[in-house]
Amino acid sequence: MARKLAVQVYNAGGHLRVVSTKPMPGNQWIQALTSVGCRVEVCVENKTILSVDDILSLIGTKCDGVIGQLTEDWGDVLFAALKKAGGHAYSNMAVGYNNVDVEAATRHGIAVGNTPGVLTETTAELAAALTLSAARRVVEADDFMRAGKYEGWLPTLFVGNLLKGQTVGIIGAGRIGTAYARMMVEGFKMNVIYYDLYQSTRLEKFVTAYGEFLKTQGEAPVHWRRASSPEDVLREADVISLHPVLDKTTYHLINKDRLALMKKEAVLVNASRGPVIDEVALVEHLKANPMFRVGLDVFEDEPYMKPGLGDLPNAVVVPHIASASKWTREGMATLAAQNVAAKLKGYPVWPNSNNIEPFLDESKPAPAAAPSIVNAKALGLPTGDGSKSRL
Ligand SMILES: NC(=O)c1ccc[n+]([C@@H]2O[C@H](COP(=O)([O-])OP(=O)(O)OC[C@H]3O[C@@H](n4cnc5c(N)ncnc54)[C@H](O)[C@@H]3O)[C@@H](O)[C@H]2O)c1
Repeated sequence: MARKLAVQVYNAGGHLRVVSTKPMPGNQWIQALTSVGCRVEVCVENKTILSVDDILSLIGTKCDGVIGQLTEDWGDVLFAALKKAGGHAYSNMAVGYNNVDVEAATRHGIAVGNTPGVLTETTAELAAALTLSAARRVVEADDFMRAGKYEGWLPTLFVGNLLKGQTVGIIGAGRIGTAYARMMVEGFKMNVIYYDLYQSTRLEKFVTAYGEFLKTQGEAPVHWRRASSPEDVLREADVISLHPVLDKTTYHLINKDRLALMKKEAVLVNASRGPVIDEVALVEHLKANPMFRVGLDVFEDEPYMKPGLGDLPNAVVVPHIASASKWTREGMATLAAQNVAAKLKGYPVWPNSNNIEPFLDESKPAPAAAPSIVNAKALGLPTGDGSKSRL
């Protein structure tokens, strides 16, 4: 058994024991648990990623629920241990749950929560920030300035790309892809070309309406086009931002051949998942095409970058911070805690996980429901808006 990890305890006398494998931002999440009688133990061990053994020692012999992180391996071993300790609820503090073996959790009768609805705008804003940083060479220029190399204005210093009136390409026009496209259309009057397995009527309608509005202002309208292949997007767009889910259809979606289709001065942004890009091929492409620039939030072998990437001035790289706004991270923590609290109290599952706003409004008690349980159906959990009581 692993050694005992340091924990911080809230509401020591609570009759239900809930563990959080990490400190999380804000206080609303702690309140959500302590207000329904939970003793909350937060692991404060100075270790970035906890191992399965570490988490086993946190679960111990009596544990009702756990809030965990996307860097942890939530498979049969942990769910069996949680079940044995009397647990019924687990929530990831993330919308994605590719670190969780949901089938194993279901087999052990454990509900698995996630945190949709609070990441969309924050993640899209980071993609927009990466786009601007790459297009206008902000990081290179910042390095230059700090290194004391600036000797005065020059007509040729850090010349980059103008976005206004150019074409932004979206691959994966779901929630985040659409939010990002809207930012680029409204902010920079960019035209849109997108590729998705499904039609995004919401995006199409928005661009059409915004184009009409621009005409009323005497400005050139913006246009959209739905591409029939990713290749169309890559050939045509000046900026390409990747927002699909990661699965076998999108693994290495951007590879050597597809990179070769892109404009020599294009900007490529990835705030989805690292393996959507073949990162080795990307490094080669960046070396061969110094005017081609990328903005990356995610990497194929996180926390590592493929050799050479970190040395390239035409790459802007940040450590998976797309959801790192205070509002989003606090919202994620609150939703994760409410998932666990509601399951332990036997409350139903909220019927619409795309509208979780009522759970975040601190001026009112949250609905007595679990915001989002991904295996609710498999476990036969009832749905309901919790109108009979409040959390
Ligand atoms: N970097 C971060 O911190 C961060 C934060 C949140 C989400 N994400 C990632 O962003 C991605 C998108 O999130 P979302 O909330 O917009 O999801 P979403 O489900 O709303 O959108 C994903 C879209 O991808 C499309 N898609 C699926 N397969 C495709 C394919 N082969 N080609 C093109 N499109 C395809 C789907 O049809 C869907 O429209 C996810 O991978 C998620 O894990 C990353």
